[in-house]
Amino acid sequence: MSHSKTKNERFGRSFFEDNLVASVTHYPSFRNAALLVNAPYRDASLSIDARVDDLLGRMTTKEKIGQMALVEKNSVIDTSDIARYGIGALLSGGGGNPDPNTPEAWREMVENFQRAAQRSRLGIPLLYGVDAVHGNANVLGATIFPHALGLGAAHNADLVRRMSEITAQEIAATGVNWSFSPTVDVVDDVRWGRTYETFGSDSALVSNLSVAYLKGLQSQSVMGTAKHYLGTGAMAWGSSTNPSFRIDQGATFIDEAAMRAIHLPPFVAVIDAGIQSVMVGHVSWNGVELVASHYLLTDVLKRELGFEGFVVSDWNGVDEISNDASLAVVTAINAGVDMVMLPFDYKTFTSDMKYAIDSGAISHNRLNDAARRILRAKFSTGLFDTKLIDSPAINTIGSAEHRAVAREAVQQSMVILKDTNILPLNKNLSHIVVAGSSANNLGRQSGGWTVEWQGIDGNWIPGTTILDGIKNAIDEQTTIEYSDTGFFSPRNERADVGIVIVGESPYAEGVGDNEHPELSAEDLRTIANVKVISKKIVIIIVSGRPLDIRPYVDTWDAVIAAWLPGSEGAGIADVLFGDVPFSGTLPVEWGM
Ligand code: BGC
Ligand code: BGC
Repeated sequence: MSHSKTKNERFGRSFFEDNLVASVTHYPSFRNAALLVNAPYRDASLSIDARVDDLLGRMTTKEKIGQMALVEKNSVIDTSDIARYGIGALLSGGGGNPDPNTPEAWREMVENFQRAAQRSRLGIPLLYGVDAVHGNANVLGATIFPHALGLGAAHNADLVRRMSEITAQEIAATGVNWSFSPTVDVVDDVRWGRTYETFGSDSALVSNLSVAYLKGLQSQSVMGTAKHYLGTGAMAWGSSTNPSFRIDQGATFIDEAAMRAIHLPPFVAVIDAGIQSVMVGHVSWNGVELVASHYLLTDVLKRELGFEGFVVSDWNGVDEISNDASLAVVTAINAGVDMVMLPFDYKTFTSDMKYAIDSGAISHNRLNDAARRILRAKFSTGLFDTKLIDSPAINTIGSAEHRAVAREAVQQSMVILKDTNILPLNKNLSHIVVAGSSANNLGRQSGGWTVEWQGIDGNWIPGTTILDGIKNAIDEQTTIEYSDTGFFSPRNERADVGIVIVGESPYAEGVGDNEHPELSAEDLRTIANVKVISKKIVIIIVSGRPLDIRPYVDTWDAVIAAWLPGSEGAGIADVLFGDVPFSGTLPVEWGM
């Protein structure tokens, strides 16, 4: 339940005003703020530009700097720092969950931070960002949709729009107003551990689905972010600057024509659709870190493409520029970064910025431009006028209606890689065996960015496994046996069909960089075990990218790519047994 909404409705005041009145009553020092209730920037009937002008005109240098800070929530030990430093935005990184990880605790946590922001002199609301890349997946109990690569396989913009609208409802129900999505990267090398976060390798499809995704967020007043600018999907193997990674946080070596033809168009498309923020990738091009590239951030993105939202750097991204933190900040801000995902040390950032402004290393013009862009995004998203936003009830999170749409997305994302005329299977076969490391494992189905940054192997989240779905789909008379390793008791007759569900364990970012994505020895043994006791064998691959199956595929009767389907594994049985036709197509090349 959203108590703020009931309160707002009762008094016809915004969340800000409610709290302001409360603050003024309890803390006499907020009397100044009380005078601002009638300030033009509070007046929703004025234009956004007029409101921004009014607000910006009231702000000190320190307050403008504060708006440019994006801070990881656990770094705010003392919440009064939010007002003291005028912090503009907070985030939960992957796994940045409250304890307990319940929707109610999320809502309470975010509202608590918002109240702290309202106690600042001007009461500017916070942006609170999360990586809701396949549902609001940090939240235990949220609806987990297929990762983007599966949605690329479904190639259905209307479906993506409905999916992101639901995601946005589940975001807004926790009080969060910002998602670091859509990922608009166009993937070139599937050895990259972020392949599954992309809609695939077709730039036009990526553009189309990214716009649909953005519209879904916007319909619920959740701000989107296009990431990761620019050419992040084209980073080269071995180029990573991170010693534990291979591709991620690396470099691209493509020429400008390819950059413009392949990687820029999805950004152009979402800018046209009104995106309010763009995240700069951990990537370099022509030897220059993107966060330091005045050419790509200011000349191309802001001037040429007319982007009026703000540019946000990635996690520690500005530090890539130099070991000298203040030099790095000056370079990034002058290149065109407007908000810095620090994400930890906002105190040093604030003093470095203050010094840079006082010394003229960063101009007041640049400071005002950055603050203006951030405030404009906040006004456009409706942050100052929360009474206008109908915040969804908390019990919509993970609801049956939402899960039904996720199941539909799973159905549409299945791709047949091979079929010797055995698909779909009959529901009335007399005997089926099911096996494999991903058959009964919601963590593997969901992949990274699910409750934890790297995901969690095993059955920790609510949902339906692929095995559950198969059990529910088949006829009552059909005998079904399951063993994760494919060891079954000795028998005289072979099963009609063996279904082996194998694939990757969860990973995120560079941890998933893999020179040769393939099935594990364990998965291959399971397949061999099932093959000898089955007349026909169907392999279902649950993975964040194509795996090399060339050495074995000839010995299998059918192969299905299931990508990372998320919490609604029943969608797989729906197509496997013919309730819904297969319609997915490959979003990336799969060498066979
Ligand atoms: C990732 C971004 C993500 C951010 C916040 C970074 O490491 O590259 O995609 O939005 O962390 O979690
Ligand atoms: C955070 C992620 C972030 C990553 C960057 C993790 O600790 O949870 O959100 O993307 O660090 O390295």
